[in-house]
Amino acid sequence: MNLDVFDPEFIRCPFPAYDQLRKTGAAAYVSEGKGFWLVTGHEHVREVIGDVETFSSQSGPLATTVPSDAALARIAELTPPGGLRGRVNTLLTLDPPGHTRNRKLISRAFTPSSVKRYEDLTRQICRELIDRWADGEEIDFVAEFAVPLPVRVIAAALDVSDDRIDDFKRWSDASVSGIGADLSDDEVVDAYQQMVELADFTQAQIERKRAAGPAEDIMSVLVHARLDQADQAALGDQAAAQLTDDEIHSIVRQLLVAGNETTTNLLTQSMVLLHGRRDWWTKMQADPTVIPAVVEEALRCTSPSAVNQRACTRDINFHGAEMSEGDIVLVGYLAADHDPGVFPNPESFDPERNNLGDLLAFGRGIHYCPGASLARMEARVAFEELTAALDSYSIPDENELEWNSSFQLRAIRRLKCIPVTKRRR
Ligand code: HEM
Repeated sequence: MNLDVFDPEFIRCPFPAYDQLRKTGAAAYVSEGKGFWLVTGHEHVREVIGDVETFSSQSGPLATTVPSDAALARIAELTPPGGLRGRVNTLLTLDPPGHTRNRKLISRAFTPSSVKRYEDLTRQICRELIDRWADGEEIDFVAEFAVPLPVRVIAAALDVSDDRIDDFKRWSDASVSGIGADLSDDEVVDAYQQMVELADFTQAQIERKRAAGPAEDIMSVLVHARLDQADQAALGDQAAAQLTDDEIHSIVRQLLVAGNETTTNLLTQSMVLLHGRRDWWTKMQADPTVIPAVVEEALRCTSPSAVNQRACTRDINFHGAEMSEGDIVLVGYLAADHDPGVFPNPESFDPERNNLGDLLAFGRGIHYCPGASLARMEARVAFEELTAALDSYSIPDENELEWNSSFQLRAIRRLKCIPVTKRRR
């Protein structure tokens, strides 16, 4: 099928194309770039992500951008002796048994009590950001709320000091810049430069945390996590008991990729959804206990990690689609969350749906998002604070929103927003 996944119109509104693809079969071959299969039905997406032996996560990057020789030469000049740290597969890009070991080692960083630890900070950041706005004065909701909130929370979790937050944001942007997007040579080289800086910073953090001994922040947990003997025996003798420095570098990069842009996008798109639903804004103000359901429905509507990647480990006929070993298979979480067979009237925003537990926005199975509770907490607290502070808001250019150029992590770049009335807390 000839679908241009970089077409700005497809990125802005992929739903008609997804509907068409779902009707034509379980997987459509999209001949863009190197070519790949796109899976759009809820049941078929679940089948792919549930069969980790046939559909591997060790698929390598999707070649959406192929840098020129000149860009590669500039990258080689920037590369430190010994290469860029963290060029190893971990979590998102790893299959069992290595993946099982990784998940066990990071699990302590994402327990309910560790998420709870960041709730007060999240609320404090929300209040601080909202307090800077003036009644009737236009803000960019993305730059002035949806970006700084998750960046500052994850920065705290990685124990990044306040004076490095701007650097940290730059590195975070660079980590996601190439995902599902077509970059120029200059952009590729710039992103690489940022990765070199992030690697230097992360190495210093690792050494600092190692010297300081165990603590509760995520960075410290990663540095000091150790498999117990039972896990090590179950995983085999070769399972190293601790994460290596390179594995920590790789995981830190993934936390930035998987955690920041996605949460930013959830918050931003939720504001757009809720702008059309004044009734739900009022309900949230009257009864904040409805906010978790609003967040779940916003997750279903927006599925910010829209498309994720697998690679076939063998030839397979997948419900009529003849896939070959090595083929890239893209699982459409956004498409699945809009499958009308599972979510009737998928384009309508309805927090009272009775099957929101079926949403796939956080994936499912062994790669299920470990940051889901953290993201849900951030979104819940954000809307508790936003609805407490703002009577309403307007979005002047709702019909001309500017989207980024990624079909995998599609996101609104700027959201002009006018807080109409501020209420006192
Ligand atoms: C609304 C926000 C978020 C969304 C929609 C989201 C979505 C996802 C999805 C769909 C996956 C599975 C990918 C796959 O199947 O290949 C995933 C994995 C992951 N997420 Fe999230 N995520 C969010 C927030 C976060 C946060 C806040 C963090 C951490 C701070 C995080 C860390 C991760 C990591 C490390 C993985 C890899 C897990 C593995 O492969 O075992 N995510 N996320």
